[in-house]
Amino acid sequence: MSELNEIVLKIIADGKGILAADESNGTMTKRLTSVNISSSPENRLLFRETLFSSEKMKECIGGVILYDETINQMSSIGKLIPDLISSSGAIPGIKVDTGAKDLANSSEEKITEGLDGLRDRLKKYYEVGARFTKWRAVFSINDKYPSKLAIHSNAHALARYAALVQEKGMVPIVEPEVLMEGDHSAKDCLNKTSEVIQKCFEELILHKIDLSGIILKPNMILAGSQSKDKISKEEVSEKTLECLKNSVPSEVPGIAFLSGGQSENEATENLNEINKNNNTNFIMTYSYGRALQQSALKFWSKDVRNKKGTQDLFNHRAKMCSLAAQGKWSIVLEDK
Ligand code: G3H
Repeated sequence: MSELNEIVLKIIADGKGILAADESNGTMTKRLTSVNISSSPENRLLFRETLFSSEKMKECIGGVILYDETINQMSSIGKLIPDLISSSGAIPGIKVDTGAKDLANSSEEKITEGLDGLRDRLKKYYEVGARFTKWRAVFSINDKYPSKLAIHSNAHALARYAALVQEKGMVPIVEPEVLMEGDHSAKDCLNKTSEVIQKCFEELILHKIDLSGIILKPNMILAGSQSKDKISKEEVSEKTLECLKNSVPSEVPGIAFLSGGQSENEATENLNEINKNNNTNFIMTYSYGRALQQSALKFWSKDVRNKKGTQDLFNHRAKMCSLAAQGKWSIVLEDK
């Protein structure tokens, strides 16, 4: 087993998953202002530190993705945030892309940037304890998009990113997110997501990436959020498995889904159904942002000093997701 593969398994094996707490300051400001909390560095730290010191971190969270601001912050107990995360047994990770910008010659689409100077930034992140990284490419579906140009250029950037990360001895999370927004059908989502993922692997292979040392972070196959064509959890599971079986090389050890705007319950239920039917060798787990944090954030915003209440909600969500990652979740457990 390679060192990179060992890191992957520490993060996602045995019912563990990833807490995506890497919202940029812009995104975090939207999340905090939506619950009437001002978005200061202190408040961002306080909420995140509350989650990172929760009891279920040990059992359910194998890795935490951080944003640049957080990885350099000191927690209230005098430990640097990466050290606080490591003390729970989880591995600190870092988002290294610098965001999705307009793509020249297809300006309604996005290209993710951040390759310039990446080798030097990775060195600094490694020194503070990061052992895995994230880069998110984003695609919309409509009758024109995603274009071949957007698919190709983002896949190329993801592969160059992954090569630099593995060179530094870290695991790259490769995240090509096909957005849920839109009125497209689940079939369109299946076709477009498959095309995007297949192109990513074509580029990853061209760039000589060790596929046993990456984690793929895709969307599940869903109908668009404005589509009338709602699909059942059984169909989500069937289509998602079909997409991944046909698009992901078997050397890849694991897949950690994003929640992408699904509610906490939907993201848990769908992951559980995927695992109940998982007839692949891939570990299928979670790398959730909103679907792990939403209830805890809402509660915390009403009383930021109530650490225990906030942690209780996060612990519950983490436990539910962990059970779903093993196909052992059921709706009755939500009320216990
Ligand atoms: O890049 C996306 C995030 O890491 C996952 O966030 O689960 O709220 O979609 P989400």
